[in-house]
Amino acid sequence: MQLRNEDFIKLAGIIKAKYGLNLTEKKYLIESRLTNYVLDCGFDDFGEYLETVYVDRSGIEMTNIISRLTTNYTYFMRETEHFEHFTKVFLKEAEQRVSDNDLRIWSAGCSYGNEPYNLAIYLHEYFGNNLDNWDTRILATDISFNALRMAKRGIYTEQALEDVPTDWVKKYFVRHVNGTYQVTDDIRSNVVFKYHNLMDPINFKKKFDLIVCRNVMIYFDEQTKEDLVNRFYEATEPGGYLYIGHAESAPRNMRYEIVRPAVLYKPLKGDDEDE
Ligand SMILES: C[S@@+](CC[C@H](N)C(=O)[O-])C[C@H]1O[C@@H](n2cnc3c(N)ncnc32)[C@H](O)[C@@H]1O
Repeated sequence: MQLRNEDFIKLAGIIKAKYGLNLTEKKYLIESRLTNYVLDCGFDDFGEYLETVYVDRSGIEMTNIISRLTTNYTYFMRETEHFEHFTKVFLKEAEQRVSDNDLRIWSAGCSYGNEPYNLAIYLHEYFGNNLDNWDTRILATDISFNALRMAKRGIYTEQALEDVPTDWVKKYFVRHVNGTYQVTDDIRSNVVFKYHNLMDPINFKKKFDLIVCRNVMIYFDEQTKEDLVNRFYEATEPGGYLYIGHAESAPRNMRYEIVRPAVLYKPLKGDDEDE
């Protein structure tokens, strides 16, 4: 089914303004991902369907569209350089710096949960018996309700675990009779999943020691990325970090320091002239 040009321009404009996703070159992607859904909803024309979306005040239909248009590709042990920094630098520093033992970690754009669960496993490995002395709950957010639903269940195929060390599979996953693997309750209870649109203000109770936003901003244009990174900066504790994907470039105008590829640092008070 074909999307008329004026319908495409309007929809792409709304999605960019509301969710940051730049779909201006992606008419075919919208058509291919939405056609069956629109037909299933009983419409044989995109325009008619979109009119109902625009008048739907609940916003539910737009979130259905978004769940279908986001790219949720993710996997365990992705970009292991970050996990190395996480254990060798971030956690070591945080142990000294975080005086109330409330470690604040946010996986922003968490997709199916592989990333926050992976971080939780590293936390368990790092703290061991000392874990109970820390509040290590990880906030994990996304705009795709579909991805969030699957993330909460924490069930993965055997193939999805192929990069996870075998002893970790045994320790942190439970094998079901149908051959799938579920993240253990211990690790699941370490992650709190929530809907959050990264275009919205960041109003969480406390600032974060670490924000992990990897492979999300590749879909945003430069200005959107710059604005988001500046919001992240305001939401980061001094001495905290932002991890971005290795394929992404940091915006030109920002106050974080780049300490190594894809690792951005917010200086401690006094180290930064703007603080
Ligand atoms: C490619 S996945 C990356 C997942 C994971 N961070 C990783 O690196 O493996 C990008 C995720 O960002 C989410 N996303 C895109 N735009 C977003 C927005 N405006 N607010 C929150 N999440 C968003 C998508 O739904 C998707 O799940």
